[in-house]
Amino acid sequence: MLPGKKWYFDMKDILLKHCTLAGNLQDILLSGGKIAEIAEEIKTTAYTLNLSGKTVLPGMIDPHTHIRDLEQAYKEDWVSASQAALAGGVTTVFDMPNSVPPTVDLEGFKAKIRVAEKSIINYKFFIGANKNLWNIREIVQYNPELVAGIKLFLSQSSTNPVIKDRTFLSEILHLAKELNLIVVVHTEMQDCLDSWAAKGINPSIENHNLLRNRECAIKGTLLMLELTNTIKNKLYLAHVSTTEEVDLIRAYKSDNQIYCEITPHHLLLSELEISNFGNFGKVNPPLRTEKDKKNLWQAISDGTVDTVGSDHAPHSITEKMQNYTKAPSGFPGLETSFSLLYNEMIKGNLTEKRLVELTSANSAAIFDLKNRGCIKEGMIADLVIIDPEKSWEIKAENFKSKAKYSPFEGKIIQGKVDYTIIGGEIKYQGVIS
Ligand code: DOR
Ligand code: ZN
Repeated sequence: MLPGKKWYFDMKDILLKHCTLAGNLQDILLSGGKIAEIAEEIKTTAYTLNLSGKTVLPGMIDPHTHIRDLEQAYKEDWVSASQAALAGGVTTVFDMPNSVPPTVDLEGFKAKIRVAEKSIINYKFFIGANKNLWNIREIVQYNPELVAGIKLFLSQSSTNPVIKDRTFLSEILHLAKELNLIVVVHTEMQDCLDSWAAKGINPSIENHNLLRNRECAIKGTLLMLELTNTIKNKLYLAHVSTTEEVDLIRAYKSDNQIYCEITPHHLLLSELEISNFGNFGKVNPPLRTEKDKKNLWQAISDGTVDTVGSDHAPHSITEKMQNYTKAPSGFPGLETSFSLLYNEMIKGNLTEKRLVELTSANSAAIFDLKNRGCIKEGMIADLVIIDPEKSWEIKAENFKSKAKYSPFEGKIIQGKVDYTIIGGEIKYQGVIS
């Protein structure tokens, strides 16, 4: 119990009555935005949600999203993204810097801050690196609280500046270490991609995995691991997709601050299905092989994988319907990622403890979010309440995101988000009471 809690009740206190927390039936009292008390039976006059055994979990902390607002608001803005996140059980997002304009200088960072004022969910921003590294110092000085870390792209994907020069790359890692910033990397390497593009392979969605060849991601991952092993910065490898990469990460991880993210699509889909999706399944890195999927699952079991990120990358349907070469890569994930993982837990493919680690606890620890990512007295009340008995079908036409398509279209999911709570307030209600 929090000191002074008994005198702290107000209209906003909420009692979550009879919810299942880590397998036990509990009452949880939310007060002052926090988890005030957890006990078998709490008596209070606070507003009460009778949950009849529904499951309560920490809201997802999604470390990898492209919210797009500003000049690409037609793809997504902070309102549509927030609503999508809430419907998907996501309470915190980190937004990537490859927006228009990009988040590479103080002006771009301030624009992001202004436009994100309308967000309903918690957020931080990644900073991109352009030639002038002073920009990074300036942004961090201006508002360190809103900086999630530095994001580097070693190749082109949407609108990001590409980092090719290794000396410059080392300089960034040194700076990140000095400023105690984590460096998140999209490791596919541009020169390697260019050499595959020059091989005369027919540019088609069926060949996307061949063209954006695994070699390019593996080489970039190895480069980042080697640099990190020397410089001793903090490294987070985004959307790791191949067997070879998880093997490398496993080998380098123990002596270093190296973290590994995977996406639900690389875990659950493969290139075998790509003709069903067409360009709606075009994503970077591409959907890989069945063997890669199997090995990502292995890396989940043995602890090599730290987090699941949605890589929510909305584009308009018209853009996605262009021919293969023109269609942008990426698709929305905020509404499906947490539920897809929860569904896998129900199927017995991961434990609830591992689900919580992957979707919230580890991201909170890696990105240094204080008082978030687990359900304990005193923590901030960012929660999702799931009805494990309900099943539903993914229908993108119902998405709150502006991007109403999904490679998971038609999939039946066990476990439905009934409520999403942020800072002790119910921000989303999926049930009719
Ligand atoms: O498929 C992708 N889309 N991969 C990325 O790395 C970027 C993203 C985007 O920004 O659309
Ligand atoms: Zn991304």
